Amino acid sequence: MKFFIDTANLDQIREAQDLGVLDGVTTNPSLMAKEGIKGKNNILKHYVDICNIVDGDVSAEVIATDFEGMVKEGEELAELHPQIVVKVPMIKEGIKAIKYFTDHGIRTNCTLVFSAGQALLAAKAGATYVSPFIGRLDDISTDGLELIADIRLIYDNYGFETKILAASIRHTMHVINCAKIGADVMTGPLSSIEGLLKHPLTDSGLKQFLEDYKKGN
Ligand code: G3P
Repeated sequence: MKFFIDTANLDQIREAQDLGVLDGVTTNPSLMAKEGIKGKNNILKHYVDICNIVDGDVSAEVIATDFEGMVKEGEELAELHPQIVVKVPMIKEGIKAIKYFTDHGIRTNCTLVFSAGQALLAAKAGATYVSPFIGRLDDISTDGLELIADIRLIYDNYGFETKILAASIRHTMHVINCAKIGADVMTGPLSSIEGLLKHPLTDSGLKQFLEDYKKGN
């Protein structure tokens, strides 16, 4: 399972990279705004800065919602850096754009996916990644993990190569359950990755080991 971090915060990206288990980064316009990154040039530069920190794929989202606009923006984003994956919303024009990008060798991440049917369409269009938002489904009393399981079944039935990128991950149990179901990638906050480290028996066990070592030395 690949671990992506879902943020545009360079310090958190560096911290996750330093841990040695980071495989990529996802961003979206809300995350860029949260970091105060505004204006086209600043946004494009920020994507390059992120690519220079991590080794893996970096999702950069288009803002246009029409086919021509998405293609223009996506081509510009893809040219920025070889690690860029163009993030395209799950709308009719978006599916057309994903098909265009697929045919032109540009990798895509189909975002804002909330149903198995949408994931099937994204795979048919050749999306590199599909991003089901499990936290947002949980927020409205719908089981986000069930969606991951449905997409896994459908993709395996037909051998679709589109990677399931479980997004809108909120906590460690999302990560663990997505791994059990077989999501290819998870993207979440740094806390969802670092939270996997925690266990009180590890802490008390280590404390005891160190105390016993001191007694004998
Ligand atoms: O990758 C999608 C993600 O950014 C959405 O997360 O927490 O805003 O639902 P959230």
